[in-house]
Amino acid sequence: ETIKWTPEMAQKCGYPHFMLKEIHEQPEAVKNTLFEVSDIEEIVKKFPKFKRITFVACGTSYHASLVGKYLFEGLLGLPTDVMLASEFEFSEKAIDPESLVIFISQSGETADTLKALRIANKKAKTLTIVNVLGSTATREADYVIFTRAGPEIGVAATKTYISQLTCIYLLAACMGKNRELLDELQLIPDYMKTVLSFEDEIKEMAAKYKDAQDFFFIGRGFSYPTAMEGALKLKEITYIHGEGYAAGELKHGPLALIDDDVPVVAVVPPGKSHDRTLSNVEEVKARGARVIGLGSIDDHVLEYEASDMIKFPAQISELISPLIYVVPLQLLSYHISVQRGIDPDKPKNLAKCVTVE
Ligand code: G6P
Repeated sequence: ETIKWTPEMAQKCGYPHFMLKEIHEQPEAVKNTLFEVSDIEEIVKKFPKFKRITFVACGTSYHASLVGKYLFEGLLGLPTDVMLASEFEFSEKAIDPESLVIFISQSGETADTLKALRIANKKAKTLTIVNVLGSTATREADYVIFTRAGPEIGVAATKTYISQLTCIYLLAACMGKNRELLDELQLIPDYMKTVLSFEDEIKEMAAKYKDAQDFFFIGRGFSYPTAMEGALKLKEITYIHGEGYAAGELKHGPLALIDDDVPVVAVVPPGKSHDRTLSNVEEVKARGARVIGLGSIDDHVLEYEASDMIKFPAQISELISPLIYVVPLQLLSYHISVQRGIDPDKPKNLAKCVTVE
């Protein structure tokens, strides 16, 4: 089966910006990417036994890789590293021939990622997760998985991130023969539609927070990459300083920066990390911070602590939360960007595809 991109797919179709269109296309992007499962099953059948996984990527694709680490270690017990492609050459000697090195890239053309792929090809089996058919990465890696996000025009990655995550979850589910996870993934598009329906609320929130100069985004475990990605979206398209931090690390420095001028976005889905992140929410609140809480609709404690809350369906487990909790953070940055008079599709100094090292 081929993946067809039509000219209509590269038009705004009534949306004011490509980024907003692409955010709203995410339920569809997940649905289409879930069809990759049979190709992934075939690839997994060919795998030798791997002792370790190493993810390599840049930017948003790096955050997808971070989710991969929690997934492969948590579900499969496979030791997993995550490396920035631009740092890879400094660790290449440690690449184990019994490892699978996974390169994540929406474009398949990022110079740093391709350079790392060429090094890794000499040492271990390589797999790439890419959105662009025929891109360089797809020609050079041992195994290729396609994210079926369709063309992404906005510089800030949104639907390609969600599709990368979908592929990573599918890969982990196939490698672990985890039927239950495969079933749970089918529910993602509907959860996402529910969250997208909160857009008006998020737009109002954007108006309240758009003049802040610094933001922190905090989360633990599966929510740490979501915090990082939320902060990256903010930096990219609003030009506000946003810092993603592991909630447990706040006390080792950033707490000194928190006051009533610094909003804190706390990613607090139900699960293992919930109570501890909630105590971090209390800590930053005690220092005057306004908190935007992301949590379950029945989390009344978070609702009480937070100045504003984005409420998610209670059934969304911590395990799958990265696929859904990031969506309102994309919308928040988008609306702050527009309200600050910026074109979110074309942020200054940034490019969709970075072909220089
Ligand atoms: C650029 C883009 C980002 C992207 C990063 C990695 O910086 O602006 O949105 O996440 O490159 O790109 P890749 O194509 O390798 O995923």
